[in-house]
Amino acid sequence: MRALTWQGRRKVSVETVPDPRIEKPNDAVIKVTSAAICGSDLHLYEVLGPFLSPGDVLGHEAMGVVEEVGAEAGDLRVGDRVVVPFNIACGTCWMCSRGLFAQCESTQVSDYGKGASLFGYTSLYGAVPGGQAEYLRVPHADFGPVKVPDEGPDERWLYLSDILPTAWQAFEYAEAPAGGTVAVFGLGPVGQLTARIALNAGCRVIGVDRVPERLALAASYGAETLDLDAVGDLPSAIFDLTGGRGADATIDAVGMEAHGSPVANVAIGAVGILPDALAKPLTDKFAIDRLAALHAAIKSVRRGGVVSVSGVYGGEVDPMPMMEIFDRGITMRFGQCHVRRWTDELQKLLAQDDDVLGVEHLATHRPSLEDARAAYEMFQRKSDGCIKVVLKP
Ligand SMILES: NC(=O)c1ccc[n+]([C@@H]2O[C@H](COP(=O)([O-])OP(=O)(O)OC[C@H]3O[C@@H](n4cnc5c(N)ncnc54)[C@H](O)[C@@H]3O)[C@@H](O)[C@H]2O)c1
Ligand SMILES: [Zn+2]
Ligand SMILES: [Zn+2]
Repeated sequence: MRALTWQGRRKVSVETVPDPRIEKPNDAVIKVTSAAICGSDLHLYEVLGPFLSPGDVLGHEAMGVVEEVGAEAGDLRVGDRVVVPFNIACGTCWMCSRGLFAQCESTQVSDYGKGASLFGYTSLYGAVPGGQAEYLRVPHADFGPVKVPDEGPDERWLYLSDILPTAWQAFEYAEAPAGGTVAVFGLGPVGQLTARIALNAGCRVIGVDRVPERLALAASYGAETLDLDAVGDLPSAIFDLTGGRGADATIDAVGMEAHGSPVANVAIGAVGILPDALAKPLTDKFAIDRLAALHAAIKSVRRGGVVSVSGVYGGEVDPMPMMEIFDRGITMRFGQCHVRRWTDELQKLLAQDDDVLGVEHLATHRPSLEDARAAYEMFQRKSDGCIKVVLKP
């Protein structure tokens, strides 16, 4: 089959690779009909190279039609239309039974001390081939895949794989009071959906980014927006907009490739050119973070407020404003989304006739899988008004 493969830093290509097949009784194989590119793929493209091998198949936001099932794939049937959550969870272990699917103990990657395995996401997360491909092998198919109705365009359901539950969890974790103010840092696909969910729940939303069309899109749904490059001191601007108090909750939807920290920029560049043996421990333990968005989120929240972090971080040495966090009594919540925890609830919302969260109007580009290489470049550069790419295998 054809699949998008990682080949090196900022180098991906579509290659012919072996077809996936059933390897365990609870596997399924799906024929992929849509596979999105995510901000998380950009971390692979840019800084997580030491944990990838040339030829690894990327992609963790896929949906399609079940092509083949193992003998123990639960009630999944050939022909079912399914969305595949990006984390692979068994549904029954100690963590899963508490809804902590991103920490599933059956698929944790103990060699690296990491949580549940993920599709298309490095050896740190199990080196499981991803879904930017014609076919995808789905382990734990007796629990993971979300069956969706046969009707409706793929994009009505596709984002259940990742960004929609991620945005939902970010807002849940933010515990914003009704009518409260939520500041969303980063208006990529995750930030856009987070802003829409918060607005839908009756919150006031202040969205922050630097890309004009991303600011405009959030504004078109009712968010107030601040342009990172025009605003000067961001926390002061948010305090000014909130009567001097700060936002009730701030959400970091940026992660470790935030713009704004030249020192970390150099560190990231260095990790990118080191041989893997040296770069691996550096990438896992040290200085690849750029904390501009996280620091702004901490400094813009009100006393006693919540900072909810959906952006992905790695590394250990960057300074954190501990006194500020302590003195101002801030709650912080982090982590990978527990996708299956939210999908039932979200599916009901998506099934409504009107597209409440505008999911059918998020993708700006729908290239064929064969054009994935150029699509990665465009998405990273945010050129051509690119906000979300859905590949069509
Ligand atoms: N927790 C999870 O389970 C989970 C799931 C999906 C994605 N993510 C992460 O969420 C983050 C966002 O994903 P995305 O697909 O929307 O990515 P994206 O790269 O398209 O969006 C990030 C946005 O942040 C903006 N930005 C950069 N620096 C900023 C700053 N200092 N302040 C404000 N905005 C800034 C960029 O211009 C961009 O629009 C990524 O880190 C991704 O890895 C996490
Ligand atoms: Zn994703
Ligand atoms: Zn489990």
